[in-house]
Amino acid sequence: MSTRRSIIVLAVVAGILTLAYGCHRATRVKEKTQETLAQPSTVCVGRQVLNFNRDWKFAKGNLSGAEKPDFDDSAWQAVRLPHDWAISGPFNPKENGYAGKLPWRGVGWYRKTFTLDKANEGKRVYFDFDGVMAFPKVYVNGQLAGEWDYGYMSFRVDATEYVKFGETNVIAVRVDTRQHGTRWYPGAGIYRKVTQTICEPVHVAHWGIYVTTPDVGDKEATVCVRSTIENHLDTESKVTVDIVLTGPDGQEVTMGGKADTVPALGSQEFDLSLKVTNPQRWDITSPKLYTAKTIVRMGDKVVDIESTTFGIRTFELTANDGFHLNGRRVQFYGVNLHHDHGPLGAAFYTRAMERQLEIMRDMGVNAIRTSHNPPASGLLDLCDRMGFVVWDECFDKWDGTADRVNGKPPLEEYGEKQIRNFVLRDRNHPCIIVWSIGNEINNQQYDREGKSPQRVKFMSDFVRRYDPTRPVGMACHIPNTVDEPILDALDFTGWNYMRRYARYRERYPEKAIIYSESASALSTRGFYELPLPDRKTDYSRQQHQVNSYDLNAAPWSDIADSEFQLMEKDSFVAGEFVWTGFDYLGEPTPFTQQARSSYFGIVDLCGIPKDRFYLYRSYWRPDTTTIHILPHWNWPDRVGQNVPVFVYTNGDSAELFLNGKSLGRRTKGQQPEKPANFAHGKIASTSSIESGNAAANAVDADRDTRWCAADGTTDQWWQVDLGEARSIKYLAIDFEREEKNYGYRIKTSIDTVAWQTIVTKPTSRQPRWGGPTQQFHEADTKARYLRIEFTDLQDGVWASIREFGVYPEKVESDYYAVTYKYRLRFNDVVYEPGELKAVAYKDGKEIGKAIMRTADEPAAIRLTPDRTELQATGEDLCYILVEALDDKGTLCPLAENMVRFKVDGPAEIAGVGNGNPLSIEPFQADYRKLFYGKAMLILRTVEGKTGQVKITAESDGLKSAEVTLQCR
Ligand code: GAL
Repeated sequence: MSTRRSIIVLAVVAGILTLAYGCHRATRVKEKTQETLAQPSTVCVGRQVLNFNRDWKFAKGNLSGAEKPDFDDSAWQAVRLPHDWAISGPFNPKENGYAGKLPWRGVGWYRKTFTLDKANEGKRVYFDFDGVMAFPKVYVNGQLAGEWDYGYMSFRVDATEYVKFGETNVIAVRVDTRQHGTRWYPGAGIYRKVTQTICEPVHVAHWGIYVTTPDVGDKEATVCVRSTIENHLDTESKVTVDIVLTGPDGQEVTMGGKADTVPALGSQEFDLSLKVTNPQRWDITSPKLYTAKTIVRMGDKVVDIESTTFGIRTFELTANDGFHLNGRRVQFYGVNLHHDHGPLGAAFYTRAMERQLEIMRDMGVNAIRTSHNPPASGLLDLCDRMGFVVWDECFDKWDGTADRVNGKPPLEEYGEKQIRNFVLRDRNHPCIIVWSIGNEINNQQYDREGKSPQRVKFMSDFVRRYDPTRPVGMACHIPNTVDEPILDALDFTGWNYMRRYARYRERYPEKAIIYSESASALSTRGFYELPLPDRKTDYSRQQHQVNSYDLNAAPWSDIADSEFQLMEKDSFVAGEFVWTGFDYLGEPTPFTQQARSSYFGIVDLCGIPKDRFYLYRSYWRPDTTTIHILPHWNWPDRVGQNVPVFVYTNGDSAELFLNGKSLGRRTKGQQPEKPANFAHGKIASTSSIESGNAAANAVDADRDTRWCAADGTTDQWWQVDLGEARSIKYLAIDFEREEKNYGYRIKTSIDTVAWQTIVTKPTSRQPRWGGPTQQFHEADTKARYLRIEFTDLQDGVWASIREFGVYPEKVESDYYAVTYKYRLRFNDVVYEPGELKAVAYKDGKEIGKAIMRTADEPAAIRLTPDRTELQATGEDLCYILVEALDDKGTLCPLAENMVRFKVDGPAEIAGVGNGNPLSIEPFQADYRKLFYGKAMLILRTVEGKTGQVKITAESDGLKSAEVTLQCR
């Protein structure tokens, strides 16, 4: 929620000093409220808030003496905040991709010169940093004025005793990311905004307003405002605090006031409770916002005004029926978002965030998890305004570093300090509905600070100390945690992947559950490969891209469809947060060494939707028409061969036409026939049986039952008698654990006398963690008996099989059966170039059609800006989609042309990208190669410079394109 100084509203042009004269506002208050206000205001003073983002200088390196005012920084780079020094590269292709292969590790310095008006003498001077990566030390006129030790946390530096009024001052910030621990790209530098605030000695404390709504009814709501007032004078001060509430339409709705004494060099809380009649609810469907204006007076003088937006809403996280907002159940259609913005790096631009949310909203998203750290404050302002609920998270893995150096300071001290800022900053935002003290904290305690009942308790109690109005939880991943009382102190838990919450549900039936991470599914926009993968973990290993048929996921997770089904079944869960809405820099599973950004995103790193976007949209927005065909229709090497076609639609069926000829109609829920498993229901025998896990369980067509050997000895075997000799072409084995742990031979026989070994499979150490539980083998044999003999069992697993399938031909894994429920699959299409058309139906009525055409060679470029009117703030952005078209205007899905950009007018290139996780082309350049036909150009306006901007895109052999924008 935005605690926003009232004067900031005047800061239309960023960087211009806006004076916080409460005059006209206070006068208005006086006119309207003279009966209630103790002292009508006539004298106007107050605070000044300055956008402090421009005119910084930056240099990389551990420079000695750079904090000194007279240090020569003339050769330093001029920068404007937000600034991420690492995003300009270069990439280090040899480095592992976990943190983006970019040069974020190191020391950097920022300096800025500023003056303070002599007239301000005696006032307080603060610098508010929204986020500095990492370990910033802030020097003012050569002296250390403040420092912080968590790169994602906002903090204030009180510079009062270091500044000189009426003179030139120098602020210098040393940033050091070397000790920062991370599992993704963190960015480097002052990557979020900085604000300078000048206050009277008596003023509202930093994050000193706390608005709660303890009673909310249709006729009336109670709004409690606690204002903490600081007194920096060495005498006590008599202070009046007035609260004026304004409604969503900007009209004042009620007010109240209170007088009290604030002790010398101390602070005092002023509690006021106000009634709002016929309150308008904040909701995801209509995010109505109220404002509480806190007016602080000493005598007849207004000394401070602060405006705080808040919402009036009720919510409940229930154990048995998910999440309720304003009395109705709302299923979380959530996404996890990491903090970077692709080609812009970690630098936080409000417009970049707003665009992310617009794209997510279009897909049907209603909930955001700020994985795994406090977000830029601007994200929460946007969620308040746009109507998203938020899971606000403080840490990733505080069993590890949580950004501390060698585990110092100890977790309790560190946790309290960070959680204090986290909750104080964010607690007025109506969008926030749960607090999370962390993600995936391990159980071990040894030398790392793993989670124990005590640690979970003190961390969650810190949150409650500052905000008892919301549930406190954490995202968990180790089911057996619940065997100890570790999670007792939490109000709810989130669980990451694979229904790991089952055990928690049994142990804590009275507590709510959120599926905090679902579907770590993987794909590369535009990349298709045939044949289709047999298993979710069969990625394209040659090209280091992942197939966009949406059949792949990380070993520890599942495809989108499985999660849809799970959420339908487990309606006690409040809903899912998909990992992730957008691709992000770092963590490029499964190609962690080769790539530099993720494959998890539903949209790519530049915000271009992948196919999955339409799968989610068709399911999450059932009433909005979505008809999407995949793959593209340019397969010159596959004429006459099979190219499966999928249609994602909110309709329940669709008919597909290729060059006008119907290929039939498919309906959701209808699965194609597949040959019967010869082994199903047949007699099975084995070397040994663990009690209750009979040999027959491996052929009962039920994945939930299994055969398991009686112990962990290696030489176990299991055998099936098919009843008669069969022609066998395909074996599908579903093991209890990851198949990499099982080494075995498969033998066949006609008569149990002569045996033939048809498969020999060793154990393996790949992948390092997790891995598929299924294994398939092609065969070409005739046999009545099949026998699997285990030769090696790794990691303590016992021989154990859920299902053993024996088929006369290759079959699709049962794992994918669920896809027929949520997508329309035309598996047998024989490719010929031309036009594919899908006509979709819902409840028997046609809802629309989609067309995919074969493209010719690229002939022209097309530019599509997301907006054409921009603000000349130096922080506004325009995203321009760059595409290649053939001479008939069809998108060329394979185009890789290099495109060069020219910008004439008051705007500059902020970044370029194309969504290719392998690309090590620079993000800051005036050119970009298309990747599967598309790229993105991001422009930034220049502060105070208005006028027309003309962008030209050229590429050899293609017709160039031009687009014009207006900066106002
Ligand atoms: C989760 C983790 C996330 C991300 C994800 C990838 O276990 O919480 O941060 O690493 O896996 O699938």
